[in-house]
Amino acid sequence: MKILIIGNGGREHALAWKAAQSPLADIVFVAPGNAGTFLEPGVQNVDISSTDINSLVNFALKEKIDLTIIGPEKPIIMGIVDKFRDVGLNIFGPTKSASQIESSKFFCKKFLSRHNISSANYKYFTEIKPAISYINTIPLPIVIKADGITGGKGVIISTNIKEAENIVKNMIQGNLFGDAGKRIIIEEFLYGEEVSFIVMVDGKNILPLATSQDYKRIGNNDTGLNTGGMGSRSPALLVTAKIYQNIMDLIIYPTIFGMLLEDNMYTGFLYAGIIINELGQPQVIEFNCRLGDPETQSLMIRLKSDIVDLCFAGCNKTLSKKFINWDNRYALSLVLTSKGYPSYYINDEKIYGLPKKSFSHSKIFHAGTSLNGNQFITNGGRVLCITTIDRNTKMLQKRAYKIAKSIYWKNIYYRNDIGYC
Ligand code: AMP
Ligand code: GLY
Repeated sequence: MKILIIGNGGREHALAWKAAQSPLADIVFVAPGNAGTFLEPGVQNVDISSTDINSLVNFALKEKIDLTIIGPEKPIIMGIVDKFRDVGLNIFGPTKSASQIESSKFFCKKFLSRHNISSANYKYFTEIKPAISYINTIPLPIVIKADGITGGKGVIISTNIKEAENIVKNMIQGNLFGDAGKRIIIEEFLYGEEVSFIVMVDGKNILPLATSQDYKRIGNNDTGLNTGGMGSRSPALLVTAKIYQNIMDLIIYPTIFGMLLEDNMYTGFLYAGIIINELGQPQVIEFNCRLGDPETQSLMIRLKSDIVDLCFAGCNKTLSKKFINWDNRYALSLVLTSKGYPSYYINDEKIYGLPKKSFSHSKIFHAGTSLNGNQFITNGGRVLCITTIDRNTKMLQKRAYKIAKSIYWKNIYYRNDIGYC
């Protein structure tokens, strides 16, 4: 089979690495990929941007691609799945309409309410005055969310009424998040620990992946700005069998069957960001219409089943016939970034010390990297992701940081507290 993976991050490198191991795969293309996918055996980069949908369709038709797997949300939200299906190509992901579960927070909140799925109480605003009145009636901290897509930046949590009022003004009247921020959700703050619960869906059948968690904040001890994720681990130990069943019964089944009932069938990966409160009850923070990054890296190193076979079954509506096998060891991923991320940072720095040999227990996935001749250089905020697997969580952490210390570029930054503790 010919496989096409769309995207250029660590998540896509992990997917390509895993897909290339499939006995079903003759070749794995990644569009556009990065320096890591360029060097990966059995994988070939294609110089097409992940949002250039017409070129991707033409490439897939010309190459007779058997299966396409999408990494990032943007092409999904733009409607890549509809376009591929229109010309008879197999692609594993949700339609543009189903992806509203991520692309519009208001769509998502209304859907959750209609189906009695637990989430933070909220109100929707397009005008400043009623939004400010509402802020003055709810307890601090206050969560303000842009309705539209902001690349993960559109959520601000404020512990100060005046600050919250200013944020609202800057979003609705100013240009804080462009058009995405002209419509806002204000919601109550949920207390608890966050887990990532990702499932594969073929419309009707659901196959849950192993549980995982990411580290969202830029600084040690979960401080500072929200990021795409500074590290991840799998499994999420907090999710006991009972909590797992509750997540399936109270969140995942009602969501997938709710979409089906509303004639908006969901296919693809569905990522539920879930808060588990002190009573062990799960509540939805958000949905993503794709896999998580860097959760995918920790999941792919644990996955013993064939990702190509699974995604193909997802396209052909035969997921009910599949099981997923996981390595029962723990996985940890540590993300190395360019200092300044998630705000301003410098690209084009030379990366030194990348291990030449491969490890049996670890894999360095590339994200923001490119090659200048034989020299790896930085090309993004999140640059590399060290992913490792072990029975012993202490060893996992020790090993990830040992590898990290051997790698260097001028403005390298990573958290020092990623791991099980
Ligand atoms: P979102 O883009 O909706 O996932 O929000 C980004 C991050 O903000 C989440 O991963 C949470 O860590 C945090 N967050 C969002 N909504 C809430 C909430 N209602 N209560 C507490 N934390 C939240
Ligand atoms: N790691 C969070 C996300 O992929 O959205």
